Amino acid sequence: MPKFIINGGKRLSGEIAVSGAKNSALKIIPAAILSPETLTIQNLPLIEDVDRSLELLETLGADIKRNEHQAIISTKNIKTSQLDEKMADKFRGSIMFVGPLLARFGEAKFPHPGGCVIGAGERPIDLFLAGYKAFGAEIDESSGEFYHIKAKELKPANYFFPLVSVTATESMLMTAAIIPGKTILKNCAMEPEIEALAEYLNKQGAKISGAGSPTIIIEGTKDLKAGTFTVIPDRIETGSFAILAAAAQSEITITQCQPEHIMTLLVILEEVGVNFEIGPDWIRVKPNGKIKGRSIKTHEYPGFATDLQSPYVVLMTQAQGTCLIHETIYDRRLIWTDMLSQMGADITMCDPHRVVINGPTKLRGKHLISPDLRAGIALVIAGLIAEGETQIDNIYQIDRGYERLEERLAKIGADIKRVE
Ligand code: EPU
Repeated sequence: MPKFIINGGKRLSGEIAVSGAKNSALKIIPAAILSPETLTIQNLPLIEDVDRSLELLETLGADIKRNEHQAIISTKNIKTSQLDEKMADKFRGSIMFVGPLLARFGEAKFPHPGGCVIGAGERPIDLFLAGYKAFGAEIDESSGEFYHIKAKELKPANYFFPLVSVTATESMLMTAAIIPGKTILKNCAMEPEIEALAEYLNKQGAKISGAGSPTIIIEGTKDLKAGTFTVIPDRIETGSFAILAAAAQSEITITQCQPEHIMTLLVILEEVGVNFEIGPDWIRVKPNGKIKGRSIKTHEYPGFATDLQSPYVVLMTQAQGTCLIHETIYDRRLIWTDMLSQMGADITMCDPHRVVINGPTKLRGKHLISPDLRAGIALVIAGLIAEGETQIDNIYQIDRGYERLEERLAKIGADIKRVE
């Protein structure tokens, strides 16, 4: 199994470009099912989750031509609306195929989606199921292995999400895009990836308004076309690199990004004393003086992203004073901080949702295991600022969402190697 070996404590410098957003790519790939026309995706990140998603689409019968950051997809000859059990079990993103399959073929069969371990027990899909029912679908779970969702005819829905969910919003948005009539979705998630998806669907003939706000109105069309989608820059990668630069007291310019997608983080970085400038598509972080500890509470977009909580925790181990990190979205997303304590951080877990950090503390290199994608990048940042050698195992979790991370970090001066 590959691992990272990091020799920490090096000053970093130079430019690092942001890849396409994982959480945008994972929605546009299944959106290919919505139209039999050919979809071209540009700026696709080269990450494991994208590979899994394209493989899953291929098993359904799609024709895919992949060339590094581009994929040309035709779903004209799709032959089944049943998701391969083993593949769907590998990653949570498989759930994004269900809405488009149901909308185009009136049927979808799939196992409970797998993926990372950050939610309570199995991450639930109740919001999705309730959403499909609102479109008039029937759900049969009697096999105990598969959900079988069917509808003679789907009808537009007037639906209020009982909980804000990114992927459930996107799933209903995609489904409604090819159901003729007016669907109204309320209490929607507002992430930039949702806006990007809606903008693409609008170019193909749907009439969607309000994406990026809590109420989305969709006038679907049976004749949705397909065209070119350019994946937006990954805002979580952008924020992770900005935090790395601040924690490593280094001058790094982050390019090909959209700073307006991480405004909450940037406002907080300014408050804690991080020195940076921003342009329309870049952020330059410079070495700063002392960093102050500042508490945060994760929140749905545009609040403080749960996906940025783990890198921020590492930064706070280098900050003066005490702060509280309150994770409100997932209840297993702070357990990894125990590894930071082993590296020398002063972190007290109050309960599964809250830790208190006292800083600053020197970190020492350690042998670590990446438990999930976002904790994984945080461990890399910790390793890069720690004294001595850090070994990180289970980097498949990091490869799921960060493209060729070690090569890109080495170019800005990091001593990080992938070894088998
Ligand atoms: N939830 C339910 N029922 C559902 C769906 C979600 O109870 O049917 C709960 C979840 O358990 C969680 C809360 O709702 O407690 C919010 O989760 P949400 O559904 O918004 O998360 P998601 O859509 O599954 C996406 C991203 C995550 C990111 C979250 C929050 C994708 C593929 N995933 O997940 O990304 O953390 O939104 O912003 O878009 C990551 O990239 O590492 C990652 C986990």
